[in-house]
Amino acid sequence: MITTNRTPDLSGPIVELRNVVKTFGAGTTEIRALDGVSLTVMPGEFVAIMGPSGCGKSTMLHLGGGLELPTAGNVLFEGRDLTTMSIAELAEVRRRRLGYVFQSLNLIPSLTALENVMLPLELDGIGASAARAEAREALERVGIVEQLDRYPDSFSGGQQQRIAIARSVVGDRRVVFADEPTGALDTLTSDQVIEVLAGLARSGTAVVMVTHEPRFASWADRVVFLRDGRIVDDTSAVVPTGVR
Ligand SMILES: Nc1ncnc2c1ncn2[C@@H]1O[C@H](COP(=O)(O)OP(=O)(O)OP(=O)(O)O)[C@@H](O)[C@H]1O
Ligand SMILES: [Mg+2]
Repeated sequence: MITTNRTPDLSGPIVELRNVVKTFGAGTTEIRALDGVSLTVMPGEFVAIMGPSGCGKSTMLHLGGGLELPTAGNVLFEGRDLTTMSIAELAEVRRRRLGYVFQSLNLIPSLTALENVMLPLELDGIGASAARAEAREALERVGIVEQLDRYPDSFSGGQQQRIAIARSVVGDRRVVFADEPTGALDTLTSDQVIEVLAGLARSGTAVVMVTHEPRFASWADRVVFLRDGRIVDDTSAVVPTGVR
């Protein structure tokens, strides 16, 4: 187990992007996916990210979640700078503290619902019975309490995505990055998934979600609009998540 001496700052922002630039390629083919983006996400905040295709939304999530490092600027998680961490520290933060949900329903088909959610904990060396208990708890948070020993195929798309959300929050995770989590779902099912994410935010897990749908973004506390790699607007919703 890797330990660090630095105590995380839990009162401040959970994730912070400071003047982040991300380029791909070089010379005449260089693409500036993010061009000086700053964003602060507080614990329990539900932030939606919107903008046209190719404006840098996914890149922003990848950087916020430490999946990629910026070309310039800093990314802080609980006050710790991901860009100056060792590879081992970064891997530990990613594995234990950050969660991801993707558009595709990417559960492992040969594992049951419960086993899918247990997986991140087991990969982290947590014993099976503790992992099982934590996985049940995470599944309860997303409203899946029955037939946990069934395989993903036998669940609806919306249920599968909720299981994926449970997997992304299991253990001690304070922020979930969701990239078009409803992209593969019909409208009714999508509503349930967004409600689950809003519920997570209410219980203190920050949620950063990319969506193309204004009606899903309206659930968020804030909507951040990106265009050509820059934030062009950052609004607060009229009704905060906590009082909905
Ligand atoms: N790994 C990569 N290599 C090269 N270019 C990339 C890479 N990832 C992203 N890009 C480019 O960076 C820009 C931003 O891409 P990004 O995927 O962040 O956009 P997006 O807003 O998520 O778009 P969409 O709504 O279509 O998902 C695009 O021009 C894209 O082609
Ligand atoms: Mg994208």
